[in-house]
Amino acid sequence: MKTLHTLAELREALPGPGAAAFVPTMGNLHEGHLSLVELARARGGPVVASIFVNRLQFAPHEDFDTYPRTLQRDSELLQGAGCDLLFAPSEAELYPEPQGYKVHPPAALADVLEGAFRPGFFTGVCTVVMKLFQCVQPRVAVFGKKDYQQLMVIRGMVRQMALPIEIIAGETARAEDGLALSSRNGYLSAAERAEAPVLARTLRGLVDALRAGHGDLAALEAEAMAALAARGWAPDYIAIRRRQDLGAPAPGDALVVLAAARLGRTRLIDNLEVD
Ligand code: PAF
Repeated sequence: MKTLHTLAELREALPGPGAAAFVPTMGNLHEGHLSLVELARARGGPVVASIFVNRLQFAPHEDFDTYPRTLQRDSELLQGAGCDLLFAPSEAELYPEPQGYKVHPPAALADVLEGAFRPGFFTGVCTVVMKLFQCVQPRVAVFGKKDYQQLMVIRGMVRQMALPIEIIAGETARAEDGLALSSRNGYLSAAERAEAPVLARTLRGLVDALRAGHGDLAALEAEAMAALAARGWAPDYIAIRRRQDLGAPAPGDALVVLAAARLGRTRLIDNLEVD
């Protein structure tokens, strides 16, 4: 695997536009990321992963400065997973001047749920992903369902901007106790790590209730929030939404249940599709 730090090196190493299968990341990789690399590999063509901690998607009070930067370990993992090229630009390389041109996703999708609690987050994500797409010019790009709303926002951007890129969704990788793998799980203390799977169990309970025919969605959401709060969590939202666009569901819609909650100082997100 070659590691490239500049756009010029990347362009030199790529066989041409529309060739690569791309996995964008912010590093501190875990099995979930490696399963996305596996999906990319299955699509043929050189597999390109990027590692770039994108300042634009962090609010000033968030963890940009402390976000774990583990490039050496990440490159070993990527190499082991069969990645061909790692693009790891510096901030000065990707943002050589203040990024005045930005991609603003529509409010109906991007200012709800995560976007309501992290204003500007999806503008930061779309802007860097659009830029990385211009750098790598991939044929396919793989995103995890763990960041469900992000996946929807990126799909919408690709569709509305007519980008010639197929977006592939990877399933959420979980620890044996059900906790969704996340780079931020490393922030949890031992006691918090023991409590953390309760978020996934709460979502599973909601999915079971929906499957059993419970129709009062607002009551289900409120009960789940209260149950988490009673255990010491600070939930931002637990929401039962239409899968297609994360809007308020109508009878018969395919559903997804999404949650974000703080456990101590760590904010965890998770979701489950209702099948
Ligand atoms: O999901 C992530 O790791 C990031 O949001 C992404 C897509 C790499 C953009 O910085």
